[in-house]
Amino acid sequence: MTITQSSDLVDSMLARRSNKLVQAPGPNPEQLKQILQTAVCAPDHSALRAWRFVLIEQSEIAAFTDLAIDATRRWGREITPQKEQNTRNWLSQVPLLIGLAYKISHDNSKVPEIEQTLSMGAAVMNIQNAAHALGFASYWSTGLGTYTEEVPEALGFDGLDYRFVGFLAIGTPINPLAPVQRPDAMTLTHAWKGVA
Ligand SMILES: Cc1cc2nc3c(=O)[nH]c(=O)nc-3n(C[C@H](O)[C@H](O)[C@H](O)COP(=O)(O)O)c2cc1C
Repeated sequence: MTITQSSDLVDSMLARRSNKLVQAPGPNPEQLKQILQTAVCAPDHSALRAWRFVLIEQSEIAAFTDLAIDATRRWGREITPQKEQNTRNWLSQVPLLIGLAYKISHDNSKVPEIEQTLSMGAAVMNIQNAAHALGFASYWSTGLGTYTEEVPEALGFDGLDYRFVGFLAIGTPINPLAPVQRPDAMTLTHAWKGVA
C-alpha cells in the first residue's frame, strides 16, 4: 500500500503521546498480532531478526509486579513504600505489558551492537505508533527491574544472549492526553553547505 495523500499515518504519528495510565481493554488478539507485525517491519541490517517480545497479560501482572519489586530490591535499589504503592496502583490497571528484548549477535563484524540496539528501538517505536493508530496508548518504561539479571531471566531472556530493553504498557488511556508542544525539528537540523 502506498500512502500518497498527506496522510492519516503521519497525522497519527504527530499526535502520538506516551501515556502511562492505561486500563482495559487492551488490544484484542487480532489487534495485538497486527501491532507486533509492525515491529518486524523495522530496519534490520543483515536480517538478524533479533527482536523478541514477551507478553504479560493482565492475569499475570500481579505476580509479575511482586517479582519485579522483589528483584529490584535484591539488586540493591531502594523502593520506598510510597513508590511501591504507586507502582502497584499503576500496574493493577494495566491490561498488557510487553517485555522487550533482542538477541545479541555477538562479535558481528558487519552489524555492531549499536545497530542491533537501534533496530530494536525502531521496532518498539513501530509498536507504539501502531498501538496509537488503533486507539490505544502505550508507555515505554525501563523501571520494573529491566537492568536486573533476575527479571529478564525470569521472562526467558538470559543476559548472556539477550539484551533486555524494558517494557511497554499498552491499553486504553484512562485520561486521554491533549496534544503536546514538540520541538521544531528544523531547529535540530542543518543543511550541509558542501566542502568549504
Ligand atoms: C528506552 C526508554 C526507556 C524509558 N524508560 C522510562 C522510565 O523508566 N520511566 C519514565 O518515566 N519514562 C521512561 N521513558 C520515557 C517515556 O516512555 C516517554 O517517552 C516520555 O514520557 C515522553 O513521552 P512521549 O513519548 O509522549 O514524548 C523511557 C523512554 C525510552 C525511549
